[in-house]
Amino acid sequence: MMTSLFSDSISEIKQAATIIKQGGVVAFGTETVYGLGADATNSQAVQRIYQAKGRPSFNPLIIHFSDLDHVFQFVIKTELAHELALKFWPGALTLVLQQKKNTNTQISPIATANLSTMAVRIPSTKVARQLIKFSQKPIAAPSANSSGKISPSTAQHVFQELNHKIDAIIDSGPCQVGVESTILDLSNNVPTLLRPGGVTLEDLIPICGPIISNQPIETKIIAPGQLSSHYAPHLPVRLNCHEIFPDEALLAFGPPIEHTGLSKNLSNTANLEEAAQNLFAYLRFLDVQGRELGLKGIAVMPIPKTGLGLAICDRLTRAAAPRLA
Ligand code: TXA
Ligand code: MG
Repeated sequence: MMTSLFSDSISEIKQAATIIKQGGVVAFGTETVYGLGADATNSQAVQRIYQAKGRPSFNPLIIHFSDLDHVFQFVIKTELAHELALKFWPGALTLVLQQKKNTNTQISPIATANLSTMAVRIPSTKVARQLIKFSQKPIAAPSANSSGKISPSTAQHVFQELNHKIDAIIDSGPCQVGVESTILDLSNNVPTLLRPGGVTLEDLIPICGPIISNQPIETKIIAPGQLSSHYAPHLPVRLNCHEIFPDEALLAFGPPIEHTGLSKNLSNTANLEEAAQNLFAYLRFLDVQGRELGLKGIAVMPIPKTGLGLAICDRLTRAAAPRLA
């Protein structure tokens, strides 16, 4: 299959929207990471997302919309959901809500893995919202990487992994936030954090009150006992390092420590927003270069778990988790 490369000009986004309407799969930039989108109402199209990613069919997708009214045609609007939507959308927050029954247009049960709930979000990039508007479809979109691998924050990352497996990639430059959306489950009595992400707990708690944390998300969906390995580079990852071995690449944060070999600094000034933006690109870089140099692993300096640091540490912990395969 030929993968077309589009710019984010209106005319090329319109071409991409036509591909979506016809049941194709298109990667596009959101503020968090690149997503791999298809018409959420077309089961065959949704199936192609799972195929391209090698994603297990029991792992549901987030459904993306371009406006509030559209979202609440598909899921039940609670008071808290409405309040959070007004405050954080468009943006890096995904809400899990009960699906409405008997709507005219049905979201494919393949996209929601037959659950009674649905994960919904309105992304903030112009390209994402125009793609949704022009295609006139809700768009199911996971991150545009092979299942279990590092999420893509540039169009080049998507191309390297999914070229020939998808119909098109729209290049809108690097993602602003750099980590995926925060997933908050509102389908139970108490709001539950399923994945820390681009909207911080510090921002959510004043509105939600107490939030239960139910991480890692994969253990809830996959059978218990399986491991949480995800975002996995090929090289093993070691966390909270104050000392780096000569055969390791260094992923630094803040004022760097002595290391003459391969290294990248997420943020010299210990800025967590900057670190989140750089995270996936730097992990990929150290993994590829490190292997070429014959290094044995990636050592990561300590990162605080406040603000965006919680999402960064979550991704790094999964990158360091024991591998399934
Ligand atoms: O920032 C993001 O959220 C990106 C962009 C493209 O929007 N998308 C993304 O999708 O990260 P994905 O598929 O890589 O991660 C979505 C997570 C999965 O872990 C999935 O299990 C969970 O959302 N999820 C989806 N529907 C759910 C539901 N109904 N209940 C619980 N978890 C759900
Ligand atoms: Mg993903």
